Amino acid sequence: MRTVAVLNEKGGSGKTTIATNLAGAWHKDGRDVLLLDADPQLTALDWSDTSDGDGVPVVQLGESNLRRDLPRVGQSFDLVVIDGAPRMGSLTASAVAVADLVVIPTQPTAPDIWSAETVVKVCETEGTAAAFVLSRAVVGTKEAGKADEALSSFGIPVLDARTHHRIAYPRAIGQGVTVLDLPGADKAADEIRNLSDEVLSHLDRVTND
Ligand SMILES: Nc1ncnc2c1ncn2[C@@H]1O[C@H](COP(=O)(O)OP(=O)(O)OP(=O)(O)O)[C@@H](O)[C@H]1O
Ligand SMILES: [Mg+2]
Repeated sequence: MRTVAVLNEKGGSGKTTIATNLAGAWHKDGRDVLLLDADPQLTALDWSDTSDGDGVPVVQLGESNLRRDLPRVGQSFDLVVIDGAPRMGSLTASAVAVADLVVIPTQPTAPDIWSAETVVKVCETEGTAAAFVLSRAVVGTKEAGKADEALSSFGIPVLDARTHHRIAYPRAIGQGVTVLDLPGADKAADEIRNLSDEVLSHLDRVTND
């Protein structure tokens, strides 16, 4: 079992969008993947309840049970994806502690970049590998490039793959599917394929060290 935690204390940074699409993409590739909803808002669980039942399995596991129960709950899966919660320091600490890799979705705005420091510090303290994913970049603007530069100064890689602001993402969540399932969502689907491949190769690297 290898665990990827999608974390950022900043609300609305794209955690659930990226966690559901990553887990869903790996599930479609035939991997044994479990999505753990660690957010009391239970958005990932709601997403899964909206689906036709053929999607990735999703279970809820609160902060207090994460360290104790993850080995048992996740043992029969190759990959576990944790969808984190905003403004919950104790959950972030537990999720970083159990993760092999922390993915930090960050929107390319100054407040989002400033907020990213919180989770970066927890990863440093725990010695857990982490990578930024730019989330919801606006096509045709320079902000993503600037954010890439600013995030690099944290000393953590910024993945090449990113998501852009596209209506397919909220649509997919609302329908209980991934963007890979939506007709006409080719650009978002390419972004998620690139992201799921890049996160997996990153995970291979950090778990083979
Ligand atoms: N790439 C995108 N394009 C368009 N909308 C997006 C994109 N990514 C996320 N969103 C939308 O932004 C909002 C916040 O995204 P999401 O729920 O994934 O963030 P979150 O970090 O999980 O939020 P929370 O901190 O509340 O758990 C949602 O309405 C989502 O549909
Ligand atoms: Mg969320």
